[in-house]
Amino acid sequence: MKKVVVAIVAALSMSVMVAPAFAEAKVDAKAEFNKHCAACHPKGGNIINVKKTLSKKSLAENGVKSEKDIVAKMRNPGPGMTKFDAKAVPDAEAMAIAKYILATFK
Ligand code: HEC
Repeated sequence: MKKVVVAIVAALSMSVMVAPAFAEAKVDAKAEFNKHCAACHPKGGNIINVKKTLSKKSLAENGVKSEKDIVAKMRNPGPGMTKFDAKAVPDAEAMAIAKYILATFK
């Protein structure tokens, strides 16, 4: 009986320790942004179309208001931008990048 309790406690504490590490490792939004987007959007700018940066103001002017709207741009971009389908950037990663953009570029 005592052994079982010890085993359960050990298993629980291990899962508690491992879980946050997993969540962290799953999507590093900043790294993903740098990998996929920063070539054309360095620091949230836009080297191809200077009027369409990733600043909140520019996004809002172009009707991009939420994380979903940013993901929609990745899936179906305007002229000059690479298309990122779910194979290139899976939904969870795309949402994380979108969140990062809204939180980072003002
Ligand atoms: C090859 C260059 C290129 C890459 C790579 C690129 N973009 Fe873009 N992006 C553009 C261009 C050009 C536009 C303007 C398109 C237009 O006229 O609608 C744009 C526009 C956008 C907009 C709308 C901006 C606005 O103010 O309306 C968003 C959001 C965006 N990109 C997100 C991303 C994200 C997220 C990534 C990475 C997953 C990415 N882009 C990668 C070139 C790029």
